[in-house]
Amino acid sequence: MCGIVAYLGDKEAQPLLLEGLRRLEYRGYDSSGIAILNGKGLETVKKVGRIQNLENALALHPLHGSLGISHTRWATHGKATDVNAHPHIDASGKLALVHNGVIENYSLLKRKLEEKGLKFRTETDTEVLAFLIGFHFDSLDAAMDNRLEVAVMEALREVTGTYGLVAVHEDQPDIMVGARRGSPLVLGIGPHEHFLASDVSAIAAHTQTVAHLRDFDVVTIDRQGYRLKSLSQNQAGLEISQIDYQAAEATLGDFPHYMLKEIFEQTMSVQNAVRGRLNLEESTAQLGGLNLTPQDLREIDRILITGCGTAMHAGMVGEYIIESLAHVPVEIDYASEFRLRNSPLDRRTLVLAVSQSGETEDTLGALREARRKGHRVLGICNNVASTLARETDGGVYMYAGPEISVAATKSFTSQVVIFVLLGMLLGRMRFLSASQGREMIEAIEALPDQITTVLRQSDHIRQVAEKYRHSKSMLFFGRQMQYGIALEGALKMKEITYIHAEGHPTAELKHGVIALIDENTPSVFLCPRDGAYDKNINNLQQVRARKGPVIAVATEGDTEIQNHADDIFFIPDAPEYTAPILSVITLQLFAYHMAVILGRDVDKPRNLAKSVTVP
Ligand code: AGP
Ligand code: GLU
Repeated sequence: MCGIVAYLGDKEAQPLLLEGLRRLEYRGYDSSGIAILNGKGLETVKKVGRIQNLENALALHPLHGSLGISHTRWATHGKATDVNAHPHIDASGKLALVHNGVIENYSLLKRKLEEKGLKFRTETDTEVLAFLIGFHFDSLDAAMDNRLEVAVMEALREVTGTYGLVAVHEDQPDIMVGARRGSPLVLGIGPHEHFLASDVSAIAAHTQTVAHLRDFDVVTIDRQGYRLKSLSQNQAGLEISQIDYQAAEATLGDFPHYMLKEIFEQTMSVQNAVRGRLNLEESTAQLGGLNLTPQDLREIDRILITGCGTAMHAGMVGEYIIESLAHVPVEIDYASEFRLRNSPLDRRTLVLAVSQSGETEDTLGALREARRKGHRVLGICNNVASTLARETDGGVYMYAGPEISVAATKSFTSQVVIFVLLGMLLGRMRFLSASQGREMIEAIEALPDQITTVLRQSDHIRQVAEKYRHSKSMLFFGRQMQYGIALEGALKMKEITYIHAEGHPTAELKHGVIALIDENTPSVFLCPRDGAYDKNINNLQQVRARKGPVIAVATEGDTEIQNHADDIFFIPDAPEYTAPILSVITLQLFAYHMAVILGRDVDKPRNLAKSVTVP
């Protein structure tokens, strides 16, 4: 959640910080701000709304200086207002702080500081931390070289919660101090400059040499270089790596929105998830990153899949895929529920944490809880440099490339295809025959062309969206492997169009949902030609009988469906385990076009942020 960019070097900080913030805007975008130290003192500009508002303000009154910190916020404590935006200033007015995360004991700390006579100006937890660091700073000897570093460390020892932060102080005008616990922070190292940022994409254009801070790391940067300290016992040095600028770079190209670009990238991203992972000779999949021997894989007798939002929906599809292909019992649980629950897991249960960003706090909480209880935890993740990638025992990367749009699209299909690979791998070790394995490989290899076929319907789907543009509410129904797609279709619709949308298992219709049906409430039925087809048609009729408009997602060549649905999105004929990858794309396009028609901010829907790094 939220983005931090900080710079200390020999260039003007303001343009570098603004450019970095723009790249991080997808992480949080309710307000933004910047503070620059330039020998004359601390200057701060903060604006509610998009980064453009900050840029407009700075265009009138530019800030000059080569040391600065900046932030784009996703509010957790206190409304999105100019004053609540970061950077926050301490009581002396000399310290500025940007912070990502939540200070859980902020009320207690606030009370203690108020008892000392300090007066707060905002409702945020971050201001309390700024005051606390400032309080420690002011109590330290003014001659200390490492005064700000010590003040940050002393303050953080009193804090419970999560933070990625950077602090600067007027009295130490050539120093910035960064610290991390739970929220990512990366150090960028250039020849005469250093950066701190929440995400490499903010700095990749300037330096490719980076080091990811670990929890409890505190890094102090001055004009000579940087030094590392830790709030834990771990004193190991930082691991410096080179990033691939191309990979960290995401541009719109000819597309009007990242979401549409990412929907269209699925032909490629699905191939990237599969590349090098099919073993044609043995008709199975190979997933080296799992770090499990064939013996380990055979011994798995239960799998628990966990994640949030779209990743959770992929897991729901994964449950059906793995159970049907490998006959291994699979359970799924929302990461936020699993982390707090005392789930009786057996030693041989494998836990799979699914996350595009690898930084979702609830998912990290779930994986830590599982590891605490001695389980092997594997990740399915897109961000190779993420906390999830570091903290799991192994896993499978998606290699989908940066996903910028807040609404997840290509990461979902990559996750599902990885579940197909995993199902095939576990299935072939158990009872699937070589010829079944070969059939599966053919189905996987057919996907890129089939995805292209689905994408060709984009214009048709836009016309259908146009027809339903006045809908206030929509229902999505699917069974088995299409149930997760119904949930995902509804999530996409509500996230970016703000139309109320619900996903349900199709048969649940008659157990209550049917009361919502009327002529103004369209129902989307996922009904490809599979074992549940006839049952789905029955349910669809129940809606039609009550004058509910029906949009069907059906298999090409299904002529019967014309008699039952008002509108149809066709997908190519595919086995039930790859069909969800095709059907979901029709619903991504449906939500996308609807959002554009309604004039919504597609890539940055209200109230949301790309990665949710708070619990
Ligand atoms: C998807 O469109 C959402 N924005 C959201 O549900 C997202 O999938 C969820 O927050 C999980 O993110 P992750 O995959 O990065 O962990
Ligand atoms: N908790 C802080 C706030 O609400 C930081 C939120 C963020 O990570 O953007 O201001």
